[in-house]
Amino acid sequence: MPRDFLDTNDFSVAELSSMLELIRHLKDADAVGCVPELLARRSLAMIFEEPSTRTRVSFEVAMAKLGGHGLYLKPGEIHLGVRESVGDTARVLSSMCDAIEARVLRHETVVELARHSSVPVINGLSDYNHPTQALCDVFTMGEHLPPGKTLADCMVVFVGDRTNVCSSLLHITTKLGMHFVHAGPSEYLSPPEWLETAQANIAAAGHGSVAVTEEVEEAVTHADFVYTDLWWWVDQEDEIPERRAAFMPRYQVNETLFSKAPHALFMHCLPASRGVEVTDEVLDSERSIAFDQAQNRLFTEMALLTWFVVPRLPTEPTSDLRVHHEALVRDFLAHAADLPPHLVH
Ligand code: CP
Repeated sequence: MPRDFLDTNDFSVAELSSMLELIRHLKDADAVGCVPELLARRSLAMIFEEPSTRTRVSFEVAMAKLGGHGLYLKPGEIHLGVRESVGDTARVLSSMCDAIEARVLRHETVVELARHSSVPVINGLSDYNHPTQALCDVFTMGEHLPPGKTLADCMVVFVGDRTNVCSSLLHITTKLGMHFVHAGPSEYLSPPEWLETAQANIAAAGHGSVAVTEEVEEAVTHADFVYTDLWWWVDQEDEIPERRAAFMPRYQVNETLFSKAPHALFMHCLPASRGVEVTDEVLDSERSIAFDQAQNRLFTEMALLTWFVVPRLPTEPTSDLRVHHEALVRDFLAHAADLPPHLVH
């Protein structure tokens, strides 16, 4: 099994299914206030080169619930490729922390972190993919399956731009033998290399399908889940006029388009630009599970941290060993001549 969680395509169907099962166990444990403190006294370095609400909060709260601690290393706060190489940062962080989560501008940065880290590295979004989001999304679909269907029977129609979320969804759904369609303007559709990987996934699974199309109205009629994402990200603001012209109005998920998918549920990784890629009527409708998805990020991060970190932890020290080391420190304090008086008993 790979040590790092950089791309869901690095994992077998059995491994991904096992992660999904672990999310279920931890969500159930949390519902009754019984999350085991498997990461007590452990630390997670949380690198963010970009802002985040869900990823930042879910990882930090996940560590707290598991008994550990998350350090939020915000944009510009640490030397990451500036004044220090990415590799050196990985070596230092992994000598003090038990795992690293990183949201990076360029996918190569998270790969480089993993190459030099001695502890697991979890990709919290790059310009290529968003694997923690995709695992969460498939878990959420599993909680909202259409009657009589399994995950492998489901059709996911992603409407919009070939974002990092689109990439991850295309890869994880085909890996699990599901059906995936990307509907959007031709110049924003998934590139051939993603489709080749998806075809290989489907061949290995022996089930599923993948397609791209501009015919969004036709595509959504077959959907069990209609998914969309932002039409532009922070580094694409110069392209807003041309992107808006390409997507609007045909690829906006509004009541007119969503009415063509009468049995589908609506999904969005959030943040959403209300009135742009999705309207309030759809995002806030009874058929929207976007906010369930957002909450499931917490249970997904709890499962990923447990899956990757716990098996690699050293055996817990015996109570005799703890007593021995505490006695050494107390003895030192008692005999240290130059300690302030209040520390010497
Ligand atoms: N979906 C997602 O990753 O949200 P944030 O950008 O708020 O982390």
